[in-house]
Amino acid sequence: MSKITLLDKEFSLFITADKIQAEVQAIADRINIDLKDEDVIFIGVLNGAFMFASDLLRKINFNVQVSFVKLASYLGTSNNGKVKRLIGINESLKDKTVVIIEDIIDTGNSLESIISQLKGFRPRQIFVAALLLKADVYTRDLKLNYVGFRIPPDFVVGYGLDYQGFGRNLRNIYTLSE
Ligand code: IMP
Ligand code: MG
Repeated sequence: MSKITLLDKEFSLFITADKIQAEVQAIADRINIDLKDEDVIFIGVLNGAFMFASDLLRKINFNVQVSFVKLASYLGTSNNGKVKRLIGINESLKDKTVVIIEDIIDTGNSLESIISQLKGFRPRQIFVAALLLKADVYTRDLKLNYVGFRIPPDFVVGYGLDYQGFGRNLRNIYTLSE
């Protein structure tokens, strides 16, 4: 299936499920070495990261905690625009190594907001694992510890990513056709 249609838009195959799985394994391999002696809690960012989180976590071979958060209603505004409230933290993060699992980093606004809110829980350190990075758009200097694919600034769907709620269940990643 090299072309798919979601609502009014056509998308073309961009990254196959096999390539995604190989990259997720490579990220897991690095985390298994880097963080094996840390007290780690993975925090997946819903909805987009659910599939990446699920695949990544089953390749992690030491004892960790897992939780999920969501950016919900607007908290207010800051100099970087609107700030959304992070919901879903029920565990103590104090002195833990937090690994944020994100599907895609575009401008980095979401990630910046997530990191600044997580810091309030006093973790020991915060790492970031993102499957996709729109490298030409990303302007922040937040450190991205584990990045899967650097992609052009085009709209993509599949493997958790959606177009108006559709496409999240696809095994491959697709890009918007011309
Ligand atoms: P940022 O705050 O600009 O980095 O945007 C990050 C969020 O926007 C991601 O977590 C996605 O939910 C969404 N997003 C950004 N680019 C895409 C895309 O190409 N397809 C689907 N969702 C996207
Ligand atoms: Mg997201």
